[in-house]
Amino acid sequence: MLGRCRRRPGRSWGAGPPKGDGTTGQLLFCLLSSGLVCAAAGRPPRRAEPMLDLEVVPERSLGNEQWEFTLGMPLAQAVTILQKHCRIIKNVQVLYSEQSPLSHDLILNLTQDGIKLLFDAFNQRLKVIEVYDLTKVKLKYCGVHFNSQAIAPTIEQIDQSFGATHPGVYNSAEQLFHLNFRGLSFSFQLDSWTEAPKYEPNFAHGLASLQIPHGATVKRMYIYSGNSLQDTKAPVMPLTCFLGNVYAESIDVRDGTGPSGLRLRLLAAGCGPGLLADAKMRVFARSVYLGDSFQDVLSMLGSPHKVFYKSEDKMKIHSPSPHKQVPSKCNDYFFNYFTLGVDILFDANTHKVKKFVLHTNYPGHYNFNIYHRCEFKIPIAIKKDGQTETCTTYSKWDNIQELLGHPVEKPVVLHRSSSPNNTNPFGSTFCFGLQRMIFEVMQNNHIASVTLYGPPRPGAHLKTAELP
Ligand SMILES: *[C@@H]1O[C@H](CO)[C@@H](O)[C@H](O)[C@H]1NC(C)=O
Ligand SMILES: *[C@@H]1O[C@H](CO)[C@@H](O)[C@H](O)[C@H]1NC(C)=O
Repeated sequence: MLGRCRRRPGRSWGAGPPKGDGTTGQLLFCLLSSGLVCAAAGRPPRRAEPMLDLEVVPERSLGNEQWEFTLGMPLAQAVTILQKHCRIIKNVQVLYSEQSPLSHDLILNLTQDGIKLLFDAFNQRLKVIEVYDLTKVKLKYCGVHFNSQAIAPTIEQIDQSFGATHPGVYNSAEQLFHLNFRGLSFSFQLDSWTEAPKYEPNFAHGLASLQIPHGATVKRMYIYSGNSLQDTKAPVMPLTCFLGNVYAESIDVRDGTGPSGLRLRLLAAGCGPGLLADAKMRVFARSVYLGDSFQDVLSMLGSPHKVFYKSEDKMKIHSPSPHKQVPSKCNDYFFNYFTLGVDILFDANTHKVKKFVLHTNYPGHYNFNIYHRCEFKIPIAIKKDGQTETCTTYSKWDNIQELLGHPVEKPVVLHRSSSPNNTNPFGSTFCFGLQRMIFEVMQNNHIASVTLYGPPRPGAHLKTAELP
Protein backbone atom coordinates (compact mmCIF):
# COMPACT_ATOMS: atom_id res chain seq x y z
CA MET A 1 0.00 0.00 0.00
CA LEU A 2 1.40 3.35 -0.95
CA GLY A 3 0.95 6.34 1.28
CA ARG A 4 -0.09 9.74 0.15
CA CYS A 5 2.34 12.52 -0.41
CA ARG A 6 1.82 16.03 0.79
CA ARG A 7 3.58 19.24 0.15
CA ARG A 8 3.95 21.69 2.95
CA PRO A 9 2.45 25.09 2.24
CA GLY A 10 4.80 28.03 2.08
CA ARG A 11 5.54 28.36 5.75
CA SER A 12 8.61 29.32 7.60
CA TRP A 13 10.24 25.97 7.86
CA GLY A 14 9.52 24.77 4.33
CA ALA A 15 13.17 25.39 3.53
CA GLY A 16 12.95 29.03 2.69
CA PRO A 17 11.30 30.89 -0.11
CA PRO A 18 10.71 29.04 -3.34
CA LYS A 19 13.46 29.65 -5.83
CA GLY A 20 13.41 29.17 -9.58
CA ASP A 21 11.01 26.34 -10.25
CA GLY A 22 9.51 26.87 -6.85
CA THR A 23 10.57 23.50 -5.54
CA THR A 24 14.20 23.94 -4.72
CA GLY A 25 15.05 22.74 -1.31
CA GLN A 26 11.52 21.99 -0.30
CA LEU A 27 10.80 19.26 2.14
CA LEU A 28 8.25 16.82 0.88
CA PHE A 29 6.01 15.30 3.48
CA CYS A 30 5.19 11.73 2.86
CA LEU A 31 3.36 9.17 4.86
CA LEU A 32 4.77 5.86 5.76
CA SER A 33 2.03 3.32 6.02
CA SER A 34 2.77 -0.22 7.11
CA GLY A 35 6.43 0.33 6.42
CA LEU A 36 5.78 1.23 2.81
CA VAL A 37 6.44 4.53 1.40
CA CYS A 38 5.21 7.26 -0.82
CA ALA A 39 6.68 7.11 -4.26
CA ALA A 40 5.34 10.35 -5.64
CA ALA A 41 8.00 12.62 -4.31
CA GLY A 42 9.35 15.23 -6.60
CA ARG A 43 10.84 15.37 -9.99
CA PRO A 44 13.62 13.71 -11.91
CA PRO A 45 17.02 14.66 -10.59
CA ARG A 46 18.55 17.47 -12.56
CA ARG A 47 21.59 18.14 -10.53
CA ALA A 48 24.66 19.82 -11.77
CA GLU A 49 26.14 20.22 -8.29
CA PRO A 50 29.08 18.14 -7.25
CA MET A 51 28.35 15.21 -5.02
CA LEU A 52 28.46 15.64 -1.30
CA ASP A 53 31.86 14.70 0.02
CA LEU A 54 31.46 13.48 3.58
CA GLU A 55 33.58 12.24 6.43
CA VAL A 56 32.40 9.11 8.23
CA VAL A 57 32.93 8.99 11.99
CA PRO A 58 31.83 5.60 13.35
CA GLU A 59 29.45 5.79 16.31
CA ARG A 60 29.17 9.51 15.82
CA SER A 61 28.48 11.38 12.62
CA LEU A 62 28.47 12.03 8.91
CA GLY A 63 29.41 15.48 7.72
CA ASN A 64 31.87 17.94 6.28
CA GLU A 65 33.53 21.17 7.46
CA GLN A 66 30.29 23.15 7.29
CA TRP A 67 27.81 20.78 8.87
CA GLU A 68 27.47 17.44 10.54
CA PHE A 69 24.62 15.05 11.21
CA THR A 70 25.44 13.74 14.67
CA LEU A 71 23.80 10.80 16.42
CA GLY A 72 21.56 12.11 19.20
CA MET A 73 20.90 15.35 17.33
CA PRO A 74 17.33 16.61 17.67
CA LEU A 75 15.23 16.46 14.52
CA ALA A 76 14.82 20.22 14.33
CA GLN A 77 18.59 20.72 14.10
CA ALA A 78 18.94 18.26 11.25
CA VAL A 79 16.12 20.10 9.46
CA THR A 80 17.91 23.39 10.08
CA ILE A 81 21.01 22.01 8.37
CA LEU A 82 18.92 20.89 5.42
CA GLN A 83 17.25 24.28 5.17
CA LYS A 84 20.50 26.14 5.35
CA HIS A 85 22.03 24.02 2.59
CA CYS A 86 18.91 23.60 0.51
CA ARG A 87 20.70 24.63 -2.67
CA ILE A 88 22.97 21.65 -2.33
CA ILE A 89 20.81 19.08 -0.55
CA LYS A 90 17.58 18.94 -2.52
CA ASN A 91 14.36 16.97 -2.54
CA VAL A 92 14.31 15.82 1.02
CA GLN A 93 11.41 13.59 2.00
CA VAL A 94 9.98 13.44 5.50
CA LEU A 95 8.51 10.02 6.13
CA TYR A 96 6.33 9.03 9.05
CA SER A 97 3.30 6.99 9.84
CA GLU A 98 0.17 9.10 9.89
CA GLN A 99 -1.97 6.64 11.83
CA SER A 100 0.64 5.42 14.29
CA PRO A 101 3.48 7.91 14.42
CA LEU A 102 5.18 6.05 17.29
CA SER A 103 5.43 2.74 15.49
CA HIS A 104 8.03 3.74 12.89
CA ASP A 105 11.16 5.79 12.99
CA LEU A 106 10.74 9.23 11.54
CA ILE A 107 12.88 9.41 8.41
CA LEU A 108 14.49 12.21 6.49
CA ASN A 109 15.30 10.81 3.05
CA LEU A 110 17.92 12.84 1.21
CA THR A 111 16.79 11.36 -2.08
CA GLN A 112 19.46 12.91 -4.30
CA ASP A 113 22.31 11.99 -2.02
CA GLY A 114 21.37 8.43 -1.15
CA ILE A 115 21.24 9.17 2.57
CA LYS A 116 18.57 8.41 5.14
CA LEU A 117 18.44 9.85 8.65
CA LEU A 118 16.39 7.75 11.05
CA PHE A 119 15.01 9.48 14.15
CA ASP A 120 13.58 7.68 17.15
CA ALA A 121 9.81 8.08 17.00
CA PHE A 122 9.62 8.85 20.74
CA ASN A 123 12.52 11.12 21.60
CA GLN A 124 12.95 12.44 18.02
CA ARG A 125 16.74 12.25 18.20
CA LEU A 126 18.95 10.88 15.41
CA LYS A 127 19.38 7.14 15.83
CA VAL A 128 20.85 5.78 12.59
CA ILE A 129 22.55 7.39 9.60
CA GLU A 130 22.21 5.20 6.53
CA VAL A 131 23.87 5.63 3.17
CA TYR A 132 21.74 3.48 0.86
CA ASP A 133 23.19 4.53 -2.49
CA LEU A 134 26.94 4.89 -2.53
CA THR A 135 26.97 6.07 -6.13
CA LYS A 136 25.43 9.38 -5.04
CA VAL A 137 27.92 10.50 -2.44
CA LYS A 138 31.67 10.55 -1.80
CA LEU A 139 32.78 9.10 1.51
CA LYS A 140 36.02 9.31 3.40
CA TYR A 141 37.40 8.00 6.63
CA CYS A 142 40.12 9.91 8.47
CA GLY A 143 40.35 12.22 5.48
CA VAL A 144 40.95 9.47 2.91
CA HIS A 145 38.30 8.50 0.37
CA PHE A 146 37.03 4.95 0.33
CA ASN A 147 34.09 5.68 -1.95
CA SER A 148 34.00 8.05 -4.92
CA GLN A 149 33.58 7.95 -8.68
CA ALA A 150 37.18 6.76 -8.93
CA ILE A 151 37.19 4.42 -5.94
CA ALA A 152 34.75 1.53 -5.76
CA PRO A 153 33.83 0.53 -2.21
CA THR A 154 34.91 -3.08 -2.56
CA ILE A 155 35.72 -5.33 0.34
CA GLU A 156 39.40 -4.84 -0.44
CA GLN A 157 38.96 -1.07 -0.25
CA ILE A 158 37.10 -1.31 3.07
CA ASP A 159 39.81 -3.61 4.41
CA GLN A 160 42.40 -1.10 3.44
CA SER A 161 40.59 1.93 4.84
CA PHE A 162 39.20 0.46 8.03
CA GLY A 163 41.65 -2.34 8.67
CA ALA A 164 38.86 -4.87 8.64
CA THR A 165 40.21 -8.33 8.01
CA HIS A 166 37.49 -9.82 10.14
CA PRO A 167 34.79 -12.03 8.67
CA GLY A 168 31.30 -10.91 7.79
CA VAL A 169 27.93 -12.39 8.56
CA TYR A 170 25.89 -13.67 5.66
CA ASN A 171 22.16 -13.06 5.65
CA SER A 172 20.71 -15.44 3.11
CA ALA A 173 17.28 -13.80 3.12
CA GLU A 174 18.71 -10.44 2.06
CA GLN A 175 21.58 -12.02 0.12
CA LEU A 176 23.88 -9.57 1.81
CA PHE A 177 27.04 -9.90 3.81
CA HIS A 178 27.25 -7.66 6.85
CA LEU A 179 30.56 -6.42 8.09
CA ASN A 180 30.26 -4.88 11.54
CA PHE A 181 32.51 -2.52 13.41
CA ARG A 182 31.56 -0.72 16.56
CA GLY A 183 29.11 1.99 15.47
CA LEU A 184 29.57 1.24 11.76
CA SER A 185 28.26 -1.52 9.49
CA PHE A 186 28.61 -2.26 5.81
CA SER A 187 26.32 -4.48 3.79
CA PHE A 188 27.92 -6.08 0.76
CA GLN A 189 26.05 -7.14 -2.28
CA LEU A 190 27.21 -10.05 -4.31
CA ASP A 191 26.18 -8.70 -7.70
CA SER A 192 29.58 -9.20 -9.24
CA TRP A 193 29.83 -12.60 -7.69
CA THR A 194 28.31 -15.20 -9.97
CA GLU A 195 28.20 -18.17 -7.68
CA ALA A 196 25.33 -18.20 -5.21
CA PRO A 197 26.63 -18.43 -1.67
CA LYS A 198 26.63 -21.94 -0.33
CA TYR A 199 26.79 -20.94 3.29
CA GLU A 200 24.09 -22.36 5.46
CA PRO A 201 22.59 -20.07 8.06
CA ASN A 202 24.17 -22.08 10.86
CA PHE A 203 27.55 -21.17 9.49
CA ALA A 204 26.94 -17.78 11.02
CA HIS A 205 28.79 -19.10 14.03
CA GLY A 206 31.72 -20.41 12.06
CA LEU A 207 32.82 -16.92 11.26
CA ALA A 208 36.16 -17.87 9.81
CA SER A 209 34.50 -19.54 6.88
CA LEU A 210 32.61 -16.41 5.97
CA GLN A 211 35.24 -14.32 4.35
CA ILE A 212 33.47 -11.81 2.20
CA PRO A 213 34.04 -12.77 -1.43
CA HIS A 214 36.57 -10.92 -3.46
CA GLY A 215 35.08 -8.06 -5.45
CA ALA A 216 31.88 -7.69 -3.40
CA THR A 217 30.88 -4.02 -3.15
CA VAL A 218 29.20 -2.07 -0.38
CA LYS A 219 25.51 -1.63 -0.97
CA ARG A 220 24.65 0.16 2.28
CA MET A 221 26.47 1.74 5.16
CA TYR A 222 25.10 2.46 8.64
CA ILE A 223 26.41 4.70 11.42
CA TYR A 224 24.90 4.10 14.85
CA SER A 225 25.67 4.01 18.52
CA GLY A 226 27.06 0.87 20.18
CA ASN A 227 27.73 -2.65 18.97
CA SER A 228 24.57 -3.68 17.23
CA LEU A 229 22.52 -1.98 14.55
CA GLN A 230 19.45 -3.99 15.56
CA ASP A 231 19.61 -2.97 19.23
CA THR A 232 20.87 0.55 18.82
CA LYS A 233 19.20 3.49 20.54
CA ALA A 234 19.50 7.18 19.86
CA PRO A 235 22.18 8.43 22.25
CA VAL A 236 21.62 11.38 24.56
CA MET A 237 21.96 14.73 22.91
CA PRO A 238 25.63 15.52 22.34
CA LEU A 239 26.94 18.64 24.04
CA THR A 240 27.68 20.14 20.63
CA CYS A 241 23.95 20.16 19.88
CA PHE A 242 22.91 22.39 22.78
CA LEU A 243 24.13 25.58 21.08
CA GLY A 244 23.48 27.56 24.23
CA ASN A 245 19.91 26.31 24.59
CA VAL A 246 18.24 24.70 27.54
CA TYR A 247 16.21 21.57 26.84
CA ALA A 248 13.61 19.89 29.01
CA GLU A 249 14.10 16.27 29.89
CA SER A 250 10.66 16.06 31.44
CA ILE A 251 7.91 18.34 32.66
CA ASP A 252 5.54 17.47 35.49
CA VAL A 253 2.32 19.34 35.74
CA ARG A 254 1.77 20.28 39.38
CA ASP A 255 -1.69 19.59 40.53
CA GLY A 256 -3.58 21.56 43.12
CA THR A 257 -7.20 21.63 42.21
CA GLY A 258 -6.59 21.65 38.52
CA PRO A 259 -3.12 22.27 37.18
CA SER A 260 -1.29 25.06 38.90
CA GLY A 261 2.16 24.96 37.42
CA LEU A 262 5.03 23.12 35.82
CA ARG A 263 8.04 21.46 37.34
CA LEU A 264 10.72 21.20 34.68
CA ARG A 265 13.80 18.99 34.67
CA LEU A 266 16.15 20.92 32.47
CA LEU A 267 19.30 20.02 30.58
CA ALA A 268 22.04 22.38 29.53
CA ALA A 269 25.63 22.07 28.39
CA GLY A 270 27.49 23.51 31.34
CA CYS A 271 31.14 24.44 31.20
CA GLY A 272 33.52 23.30 33.84
CA PRO A 273 35.84 25.92 35.21
CA GLY A 274 37.71 27.27 32.22
CA LEU A 275 38.04 24.81 29.41
CA LEU A 276 35.40 23.85 26.89
CA ALA A 277 36.81 20.35 27.05
CA ASP A 278 35.44 20.18 30.58
CA ALA A 279 31.93 20.86 29.35
CA LYS A 280 29.39 18.46 30.64
CA MET A 281 25.66 18.07 30.83
CA ARG A 282 23.99 19.97 33.62
CA VAL A 283 20.65 18.77 34.96
CA PHE A 284 18.57 21.03 37.15
CA ALA A 285 14.96 21.59 38.17
CA ARG A 286 12.82 24.71 37.95
CA SER A 287 9.18 25.45 38.69
CA VAL A 288 6.80 28.01 37.25
CA TYR A 289 3.21 28.61 38.25
CA LEU A 290 0.06 30.21 36.95
CA GLY A 291 0.01 33.73 38.32
CA ASP A 292 3.81 34.11 38.33
CA SER A 293 5.05 37.45 37.05
CA PHE A 294 7.08 37.60 33.86
CA GLN A 295 10.14 38.47 35.97
CA ASP A 296 9.62 35.25 37.94
CA VAL A 297 9.48 33.30 34.70
CA LEU A 298 12.55 35.00 33.26
CA SER A 299 14.57 34.22 36.35
CA MET A 300 13.44 30.58 36.34
CA LEU A 301 13.68 29.76 32.64
CA GLY A 302 15.79 32.51 31.10
CA SER A 303 14.85 34.50 28.04
CA PRO A 304 12.32 33.01 25.66
CA HIS A 305 13.28 32.35 22.04
CA LYS A 306 10.52 34.65 20.94
CA VAL A 307 7.88 36.94 22.36
CA PHE A 308 4.68 36.71 20.42
CA TYR A 309 1.85 39.20 20.82
CA LYS A 310 -1.57 37.78 20.26
CA SER A 311 -2.66 39.92 17.35
CA GLU A 312 -6.08 38.58 16.61
CA ASP A 313 -7.81 37.70 19.79
CA LYS A 314 -10.58 35.57 18.43
CA MET A 315 -12.99 36.72 21.12
CA LYS A 316 -12.49 40.36 20.27
CA ILE A 317 -14.50 39.92 17.13
CA HIS A 318 -17.50 39.38 19.38
CA SER A 319 -16.82 42.24 21.71
CA PRO A 320 -19.04 45.33 21.31
CA SER A 321 -16.48 47.65 19.79
CA PRO A 322 -13.47 45.76 18.57
CA HIS A 323 -12.05 48.75 16.71
CA LYS A 324 -11.68 50.71 19.94
CA GLN A 325 -9.12 48.29 21.29
CA VAL A 326 -5.56 49.46 21.03
CA PRO A 327 -3.67 46.34 20.11
CA SER A 328 -0.19 47.44 21.10
CA LYS A 329 -1.21 48.15 24.67
CA CYS A 330 -3.70 45.46 25.53
CA ASN A 331 -2.60 42.33 23.78
CA ASP A 332 -1.71 39.31 25.81
CA TYR A 333 1.65 37.92 24.85
CA PHE A 334 3.36 34.57 24.68
CA PHE A 335 6.86 33.64 25.65
CA ASN A 336 7.81 30.86 23.20
CA TYR A 337 10.40 28.44 24.57
CA PHE A 338 10.91 26.30 21.48
CA THR A 339 13.54 23.96 22.92
CA LEU A 340 11.37 23.29 25.98
CA GLY A 341 8.26 22.67 23.88
CA VAL A 342 6.41 25.23 26.00
CA ASP A 343 4.61 28.53 25.47
CA ILE A 344 3.66 30.76 28.37
CA LEU A 345 0.88 33.30 27.95
CA PHE A 346 0.96 36.50 29.98
CA ASP A 347 -1.91 38.81 30.68
CA ALA A 348 -1.45 42.17 28.96
CA ASN A 349 -2.43 44.17 32.04
CA THR A 350 -1.12 42.22 34.99
CA HIS A 351 1.88 40.62 33.22
CA LYS A 352 1.16 37.42 35.08
CA VAL A 353 1.05 33.89 33.71
CA LYS A 354 -2.39 33.03 32.40
CA LYS A 355 -1.69 29.82 30.52
CA PHE A 356 0.88 27.24 29.72
CA VAL A 357 0.85 25.42 26.39
CA LEU A 358 2.77 22.15 26.06
CA HIS A 359 3.58 20.87 22.57
CA THR A 360 4.11 17.24 21.60
CA ASN A 361 5.54 17.84 18.11
CA TYR A 362 3.86 14.95 16.34
CA PRO A 363 4.52 14.80 12.62
CA GLY A 364 1.39 15.58 10.66
CA HIS A 365 0.46 18.50 12.90
CA TYR A 366 0.42 22.06 11.69
CA ASN A 367 3.15 23.09 14.13
CA PHE A 368 5.40 20.12 13.47
CA ASN A 369 9.09 20.91 13.94
CA ILE A 370 8.49 24.32 15.48
CA TYR A 371 8.84 23.00 19.03
CA HIS A 372 11.02 20.39 20.59
CA ARG A 373 8.83 17.60 21.94
CA CYS A 374 7.64 18.32 25.47
CA GLU A 375 7.78 15.14 27.57
CA PHE A 376 5.02 15.87 30.03
CA LYS A 377 3.22 14.03 32.79
CA ILE A 378 -0.19 15.36 33.75
CA PRO A 379 -2.25 13.95 36.60
CA ILE A 380 -5.88 13.59 35.66
CA ALA A 381 -8.56 13.00 38.28
CA ILE A 382 -10.61 10.03 37.20
CA LYS A 383 -12.84 9.38 40.19
CA LYS A 384 -14.61 11.50 42.75
CA ASP A 385 -12.46 9.98 45.47
CA GLY A 386 -9.44 11.74 44.04
CA GLN A 387 -7.86 8.84 42.21
CA THR A 388 -5.60 10.05 39.44
CA GLU A 389 -4.13 8.68 36.24
CA THR A 390 -1.20 10.12 34.37
CA CYS A 391 -1.54 11.50 30.90
CA THR A 392 1.76 11.69 29.01
CA THR A 393 3.01 12.93 25.67
CA TYR A 394 2.36 9.44 24.35
CA SER A 395 -1.15 8.91 25.70
CA LYS A 396 -3.96 8.58 23.24
CA TRP A 397 -7.15 10.50 23.75
CA ASP A 398 -9.51 7.53 23.43
CA ASN A 399 -7.67 5.85 26.32
CA ILE A 400 -8.00 8.95 28.46
CA GLN A 401 -11.72 9.08 27.73
CA GLU A 402 -12.00 5.43 28.70
CA LEU A 403 -10.25 6.06 31.99
CA LEU A 404 -12.55 8.95 32.74
CA GLY A 405 -15.47 6.66 32.17
CA HIS A 406 -17.61 9.44 30.77
CA PRO A 407 -17.63 11.38 27.55
CA VAL A 408 -16.04 14.79 27.57
CA GLU A 409 -17.90 17.85 26.38
CA LYS A 410 -18.22 18.07 22.61
CA PRO A 411 -14.95 19.27 21.08
CA VAL A 412 -14.30 22.52 19.32
CA VAL A 413 -12.87 21.95 15.86
CA LEU A 414 -9.71 23.87 15.23
CA HIS A 415 -8.66 24.47 11.66
CA ARG A 416 -5.42 26.34 11.49
CA SER A 417 -4.28 28.14 8.41
CA SER A 418 -1.71 30.81 7.91
CA SER A 419 -3.84 32.95 5.60
CA PRO A 420 -7.48 33.04 4.56
CA ASN A 421 -6.61 31.41 1.22
CA ASN A 422 -4.42 28.79 2.62
CA THR A 423 -5.84 25.40 3.27
CA ASN A 424 -3.98 23.52 5.92
CA PRO A 425 -3.07 20.16 4.44
CA PHE A 426 -2.70 18.58 7.86
CA GLY A 427 -6.39 18.68 8.61
CA SER A 428 -8.33 19.88 11.60
CA THR A 429 -7.73 19.03 15.20
CA PHE A 430 -10.23 18.74 18.04
CA CYS A 431 -10.05 20.60 21.32
CA PHE A 432 -11.51 18.97 24.42
CA GLY A 433 -11.86 20.84 27.69
CA LEU A 434 -11.14 18.82 30.81
CA GLN A 435 -10.21 19.86 34.34
CA ARG A 436 -8.91 23.33 33.41
CA MET A 437 -6.98 21.96 30.51
CA ILE A 438 -7.57 21.90 26.81
CA PHE A 439 -6.38 18.85 24.97
CA GLU A 440 -5.83 19.41 21.29
CA VAL A 441 -6.23 16.01 19.70
CA MET A 442 -5.20 14.92 16.22
CA GLN A 443 -7.24 12.66 13.98
CA ASN A 444 -5.00 9.73 14.92
CA ASN A 445 -6.00 10.24 18.58
CA HIS A 446 -2.60 11.56 19.65
CA ILE A 447 -2.42 14.72 21.71
CA ALA A 448 -0.95 17.65 19.80
CA SER A 449 -0.92 20.15 22.64
CA VAL A 450 -2.22 20.71 26.13
CA THR A 451 -3.18 24.16 27.38
CA LEU A 452 -3.33 24.68 31.13
CA TYR A 453 -5.22 27.68 32.43
CA GLY A 454 -6.29 29.23 35.67
CA PRO A 455 -9.39 28.91 37.79
CA PRO A 456 -12.45 29.22 35.60
CA ARG A 457 -14.34 32.43 35.59
CA PRO A 458 -17.93 31.98 36.74
CA GLY A 459 -20.05 30.39 34.06
CA ALA A 460 -17.15 29.99 31.69
CA HIS A 461 -17.26 27.33 29.04
CA LEU A 462 -14.62 26.31 26.59
CA LYS A 463 -14.21 29.38 24.48
CA THR A 464 -12.34 29.94 21.31
CA ALA A 465 -10.17 32.39 23.19
CA GLU A 466 -8.79 29.49 25.21
CA LEU A 467 -7.75 27.55 22.16
CA PRO A 468 -4.08 26.97 21.65
C1 LIG B 1 14.35 7.39 -0.37
O1 LIG B 1 14.46 7.91 -1.65
C2 LIG B 1 14.91 7.00 -2.62
C3 LIG B 1 15.14 7.78 -3.91
O2 LIG B 1 13.98 8.45 -4.30
C4 LIG B 1 13.92 5.89 -2.77
O3 LIG B 1 14.35 4.95 -3.75
C5 LIG B 1 13.76 5.20 -1.44
O4 LIG B 1 12.76 4.20 -1.53
C6 LIG B 1 13.39 6.21 -0.37
N1 LIG B 1 13.42 5.55 0.91
C7 LIG B 1 12.39 5.56 1.72
C8 LIG B 1 12.53 4.89 3.02
O5 LIG B 1 11.37 6.12 1.40
C1 LIG C 1 -5.65 34.94 -1.91
O1 LIG C 1 -5.67 34.56 -3.27
C2 LIG C 1 -5.81 35.64 -4.17
C3 LIG C 1 -5.96 35.09 -5.57
O2 LIG C 1 -5.15 33.99 -5.77
C4 LIG C 1 -4.59 36.57 -4.02
O3 LIG C 1 -4.70 37.68 -4.89
C5 LIG C 1 -4.53 37.05 -2.60
O4 LIG C 1 -3.36 37.83 -2.41
C6 LIG C 1 -4.49 35.87 -1.62
N1 LIG C 1 -4.59 36.36 -0.26
C7 LIG C 1 -3.79 35.95 0.69
C8 LIG C 1 -4.01 36.55 2.03
O5 LIG C 1 -2.91 35.13 0.49
